[in-house]
Amino acid sequence: MTIYLDHAATTPVHPDVIQTMLPIYTHSYGNASSTHSAGREARSVVQRARDLMASLLGCAATQLVFTSGGTESNNMAILGAAAARSSLGKHIITVQTEHHAVLHTCQHLEKLGYEITYLDVDNNGRIDLKQLEEVIRPETILISVMYGNNEVGTIQPIVKIGELARSKGIWFHVDAVQALGVIELSLSSLPIDLMSFSAHKIQGPKGIGALYIAKHIQLEPILHGGSQERKRRAGTENVPGIAGFSKALQIFIEHRYEMQQKMEKLRIEMVTRLQKQLGSEQVVINGHPTDYLPHILNISFPGISSETMLMSLDMEGIAAASGSACTSGSLEVSHVLQAMKLSEQVTASAVRFSFGSASSLQDIVTCAEKIVTIVNRIRNNY
Ligand SMILES: Cc1ncc(COP(=O)(O)O)c(C=O)c1O
Repeated sequence: MTIYLDHAATTPVHPDVIQTMLPIYTHSYGNASSTHSAGREARSVVQRARDLMASLLGCAATQLVFTSGGTESNNMAILGAAAARSSLGKHIITVQTEHHAVLHTCQHLEKLGYEITYLDVDNNGRIDLKQLEEVIRPETILISVMYGNNEVGTIQPIVKIGELARSKGIWFHVDAVQALGVIELSLSSLPIDLMSFSAHKIQGPKGIGALYIAKHIQLEPILHGGSQERKRRAGTENVPGIAGFSKALQIFIEHRYEMQQKMEKLRIEMVTRLQKQLGSEQVVINGHPTDYLPHILNISFPGISSETMLMSLDMEGIAAASGSACTSGSLEVSHVLQAMKLSEQVTASAVRFSFGSASSLQDIVTCAEKIVTIVNRIRNNY
């Protein structure tokens, strides 16, 4: 049986979420824009889900727009803000360690004549607020910084960035795809204008996400067609997905405290076992030492390539990841670890373990044992 430690990539759908979605496929299958009773029923499913999510996130229901996932939410926020504010300026600030859904969107905007500043991070993956302040210009229209990093878990000083952005009249977008359900969010009281979410990271279905849009923000839509989502996002609503997303968020938030405690325990267990058996200099923890998402643990085993470790773990029935994209059979060094200016030894040997609700202490004990065997086998050449 596989020990699945790749929950930052995606999670299994929670059985209660499936139970919530099934009758919508079979009974409430109307188009939420149709005026007949089947359509009204679907519309009321969407409305109830939106109300539930808004109450869980501390915002108004009208401030949530459903999208196809985190990638679309990031595109909608950045492209929509760039188009809406282009008469005020064409300068955007983001960070080198963002997800590609942000970085590649910004690179696309560069081709359209926008100027992008990519902030540095320190060895722990944190931005420098002073550097941020220095690069702000009169024509800066948007700052986009992720809440918690998907590769190393580092949490950014989101409130301080938001306060700075507000004081300068700059819109602030946060990719909170990995932070959703893990960190408590009360959106109306945060200095944040746009926030991206995705359901499949929290045991919801794939292909559904949301963008929070603060009251005073008017984005240019990026999808054109029908007038769904108050003309902010055209396309027939994914009614079962929306209902499943709201249920998944409810479950995640209900269990947040116990999950956080459990993740901490799993992290400590893994790190302690590995350091004890391999020696602490052979087990390098990447990311911020105190401000991190508890479900993400990035470890380098110097001298053993990420690829070798991942393949060996896979053969032992353990699914983990590197932050790297797989191209032509070889792993690219992670842009996040490179931006953190870690040594080549560390960047080339990093493995991301990410925990979920089904991860058990026994999984971690087994995984640590297997890693020790793999490391010793490779080091001793047998
Ligand atoms: C931080 C972050 N942003 C955005 C995304 C993209 O989300 P989705 O897979 O829903 O498009 C991911 C998914 O890996 C992520 O981890």
